[in-house]
Amino acid sequence: MQTLVQEVALYEEIAELKKQRKAIMLAHYYQDGAIQEIAEITGDSLKLAREAAKVTDPVIVFCGVHFMAETAKILNPKKTVLLPDMAAGCSLADSCPAPALKKFQDELRAQGVKFQTVTYINSTAAVKALSDWIVTSGNAREIIERVPKDCQILFTPDQHLGRFLMDETKRPFILWKGSCMVHEVFSVVDMIRLKKQNPQSVTIAHPECPHNMLEQSDFVGGTEAMLKYVGGKPIPTTFNVATEVNMIWQFEKRFPQHTFVPVPGIACACNACPHMAKNTLERIRDCLRDMTPEIVWAPEFDQAEAVIRRSLL
Ligand code: 13P
Ligand code: SF4
Repeated sequence: MQTLVQEVALYEEIAELKKQRKAIMLAHYYQDGAIQEIAEITGDSLKLAREAAKVTDPVIVFCGVHFMAETAKILNPKKTVLLPDMAAGCSLADSCPAPALKKFQDELRAQGVKFQTVTYINSTAAVKALSDWIVTSGNAREIIERVPKDCQILFTPDQHLGRFLMDETKRPFILWKGSCMVHEVFSVVDMIRLKKQNPQSVTIAHPECPHNMLEQSDFVGGTEAMLKYVGGKPIPTTFNVATEVNMIWQFEKRFPQHTFVPVPGIACACNACPHMAKNTLERIRDCLRDMTPEIVWAPEFDQAEAVIRRSLL
């Protein structure tokens, strides 16, 4: 645990290194508040991908997880993209290995199934390269409309987001059975308890949560959609929030008039993403100082780039 004095010293070192390296920092809303505070750009997966495509600085420090930094590199082949901790992965991306997806697609084709593969951005570049479309929680409905009506939709890797979108779009999906380790372990019992304790409260949930959580929620949306929804409430309100806990920092910063209560996990009150938590102020300082770890171009990025560009930009 850092003291405030140590934190300020790190802020200063990072600011100086950013200037020297001509670097810009992008941070996802699930990063620690101290990291979001010093990032030039914060956002959800869609906003960060779009902003990454517009960057003019030669160095991007991506404070998020591996698939996000990989997307930034794919959209900026000539730039240096640093990920403060290369081990910042994602359970959802891990739940769909590219060879397993390829095998399943081949089986479907052999059975004569006509389909297109729609993949959540929380996936590796190799999986993106096997896909027809990439979606985020922020653009999924719009992209699904682009899938020809005579094609089935193979949705990977998040089964819960897939089921939610299936209900929303009224189209049948073939669901890959992946899930996010953070959103899957919220306690629906505690969520109901919070609602009972404060009947005036409003419950908001990320679509990566299981169906029984979404059924109990007043609003379902990705992180950017949640911010928009909360921002539209003029009267001070208490929100029960079922998403990664660092999102509360962003809510409180933008909407101090409201109260935000994190919905706890089943086993403990903590619902932080352990992968996002790998990025720390020290690691950000170190990666700017040493210019490593860096995302380097891989052969599958070429095909992934085409799919990302037509889906997200
Ligand atoms: P969004 O911020 O795009 O809603 O994504 C949530 C998430 O789980 C990122 O890993
Ligand atoms: Fe992956 Fe879930 Fe962490 Fe997002 S919150 S990075 S989906 S494990």
